[in-house]
Amino acid sequence: MSSGHDTPEDPQPGPTRESRFEPYEVNRPIPVAVLSVAFALAAWGVATLWVDQGAVEETAPEDEAAEVAAAGPDGAAVFEANCQTCHQANGLGVQGAIPPLAGSRYVTGPAEAPVQILLHGIDGPISVRGADYDGRMPRFGEVLTDAQIAAVVSYVRSTWGNAAPPVEAAFVAEQRARFDATRGPWAGGAELGAVTGIAARLGGGGTDTSMESAR
Ligand code: HEC
Repeated sequence: MSSGHDTPEDPQPGPTRESRFEPYEVNRPIPVAVLSVAFALAAWGVATLWVDQGAVEETAPEDEAAEVAAAGPDGAAVFEANCQTCHQANGLGVQGAIPPLAGSRYVTGPAEAPVQILLHGIDGPISVRGADYDGRMPRFGEVLTDAQIAAVVSYVRSTWGNAAPPVEAAFVAEQRARFDATRGPWAGGAELGAVTGIAARLGGGGTDTSMESAR
């Protein structure tokens, strides 16, 4: 009996109880209520996706078509995609090779001219703003719709200082119906003017901005 009166010693000297504590994962099962809510949410999500997809598939084409019809194609975008490489972003073309659209009587004069050039292409002598060209422009009759041609023609008629009135898709449709789609490109400015009957309204050389109001 040597130390009966001693204060009891900690049988495991060393760190206190608190510092020995190690965090551990509580292995408590997720309550059924939480699980069922999670499943319900997941099911609802899938169902919503499913239903929405059906709705999108059913209505999207009509909605888009309606929007496009309301807004119409973007003439600037059609120009950028189909004309800009040749006629340039500033509408001035390439000296000696590609005629300018800025200030051209074929753009701002009678609307038949740009529309017919786009529908069939043009390949022959043409005089624009006092300079002679004899190049070849491809046709866009099969590439662009009536609405796209109307949009891009309206764009070039109202950009770079051009100030001619816009053209409608219906006007392009009329012009499309006038000549066989396989007639080949216009053989230059003179033939275009003679065959379409707009030679007088196209006028001669010069800067041609006086033709703006002619249609
Ligand atoms: C591959 C090059 C090329 C592309 C692309 C092109 N053009 Fe042309 N364009 C020409 C050439 C070359 C001429 C002159 C043809 C000639 O000498 O007979 C011309 C002539 C014209 C003319 C009559 C002359 C004038 O300068 O006013 C108009 C209008 C016209 N283009 C508009 C357009 C529009 C709008 C587009 C886009 C839809 C377009 N072109 C795309 C090369 C091109």
